[in-house]
Amino acid sequence: MIERISLSFEPDLLKNLDRYCREKHYPTRSEAVRDLVRRALVAEAWQKGDKEVVGVVSLVFDHDKRDVNNKLTGQQHKQHDLIISSTHVHLNHHDCLEVILMRGKPAEIKKMADTMLAMPGVKSGGLTMAG
Ligand code: NI
Repeated sequence: MIERISLSFEPDLLKNLDRYCREKHYPTRSEAVRDLVRRALVAEAWQKGDKEVVGVVSLVFDHDKRDVNNKLTGQQHKQHDLIISSTHVHLNHHDCLEVILMRGKPAEIKKMADTMLAMPGVKSGGLTMAG
């Protein structure tokens, strides 16, 4: 069920909301506002840290360098309880992309993501706070 509420905006803020809706291809203001609220709630859950959250870590690394492939796999086995799934893609002769879906306490996910992102041989990547 959806409840209808009315919101009040200053003209400048409303103008910015409408621009945001156009640029992000939202069909209605309501859809945009709902998404903004949902995102704020996800960010709050990650900040508070008491509930389970879902995160996605993506890593691009050169598998020939510094034994990074084995180190990344070893880290994932060490904390297998945090991992829902992982996908490994061989991008070219050297580079791999690994995407790891995790569920757990925010601090545990952040620590694991930071540990993997800081490994020598990892070129780029990041953590997405998905839910
Ligand atoms: Ni590979």
